Amino acid sequence: MNGALVASTLATPTGPVPAGGAALGDVRVLADGAVAWEDSTITYVGPADGLPGSAGDPQVLRGCTVVPGFVDAHTHLPFVGWRADEFEARLAGKTYRDLHGEGGIYRSSRSLNAASDDEVLEFCRPLVREMADHGTTALELKTGYGLSVEAELRQARLARCLAEEAPQTCTVTLLACHAVPEGVERADWVRLACEELIPAAEAEKLADAVDIYVEDIAFSLDDLAAVAEAAAAAGLPLRCHADQLGPSRAVEAAVALGARSVDHLNHVSEGGVAALAAGGTVGVLLPTSTFFLRANPPPTRTLVNAGAALAIASDFNPGTSPTLSMPEVVSTVCTLYRLTPHEALTAATMNPAWVLGLAHRTGTLEVGKRADILVLDADAFRQVPYRSGHNPVRHTYIDGRKVGER
Ligand code: NIG
Ligand code: FE
Repeated sequence: MNGALVASTLATPTGPVPAGGAALGDVRVLADGAVAWEDSTITYVGPADGLPGSAGDPQVLRGCTVVPGFVDAHTHLPFVGWRADEFEARLAGKTYRDLHGEGGIYRSSRSLNAASDDEVLEFCRPLVREMADHGTTALELKTGYGLSVEAELRQARLARCLAEEAPQTCTVTLLACHAVPEGVERADWVRLACEELIPAAEAEKLADAVDIYVEDIAFSLDDLAAVAEAAAAAGLPLRCHADQLGPSRAVEAAVALGARSVDHLNHVSEGGVAALAAGGTVGVLLPTSTFFLRANPPPTRTLVNAGAALAIASDFNPGTSPTLSMPEVVSTVCTLYRLTPHEALTAATMNPAWVLGLAHRTGTLEVGKRADILVLDADAFRQVPYRSGHNPVRHTYIDGRKVGER
């Protein structure tokens, strides 16, 4: 696929990845910018008047901004079924913890395990398309609703099927420890996860990373250490749901274990901030789940000022974050967490590409990267967080090919 675009504004993160601290807001902005690609690979980024003749006639987009495609590095697809009644129960005073059992992760597990493969894929397909319409050009798919060795492996296989069909680049994370399966001791599940599930997923090449949910209602720091060891033995990067509902010092523990990312961070400790500031691990912020749970935001400015590298993601799931829109995530992180629009752009593109192991091919507009490009109906990127609730994505290009209905 070949093509060329000229837009009133072109904005792309730049510099070493993952970007932390002041570099998070380092965005190259060009007025009258152009991008061109050949065979799905970007061949030119620069001023429109420097566009090489070989690029052909560009499409000219007045009043638009061109940016790299969004990379959603934390979702819980594939799942099947919504939980809007739990949302309503929380509005009436119940907490996420109160609903954990009859509802919550266990309920999504029962729905997944009761559905056929076709039913799951039919539920997920339009959601993945809707993500593309909202500018997501690469994303993570996760297990964690299987809650048995066989059911987790099946969910990972379904994720691979979805990845195969989707126009986006998708990676699969094995959320080996999400909830302790009913009728099983926690220690027994962790042993099964480490000794059977993770090696089996690796043998079948079903996973690109391993995740664990550290929380008082889920798994402990010792469990994290065991899962980290099993992930390392399988040659897979570690990710961790850390300090979401309460403080557990999971951030510093996961950083010490060499985690690729620590996700949520609502209750991160001072030690956790210092650990992230030292580098090597990205903090993935999930502002829409904070919004839906009416939780306290993480100390985001403290994290940035300390030098931490941050990404933002949708956490798309039927419980804590039923939104799949990255523009909405950008808007929420700016308003609720006080990231600047340019920090949010880097955190939605270049840094999450690193988290998913895709930084060599996507996340910035740079010569040699894949042509994953968005055309926004905005004269500057700040318009995206500003116009909350509006989908600013006019066109989504993945590998240089226009996808979706818009
Ligand atoms: O990231 N915290 C754990 N997991 C999800 C929620 C999953 C669910 O409720 O189904 C999260 O918020
Ligand atoms: Fe999550």
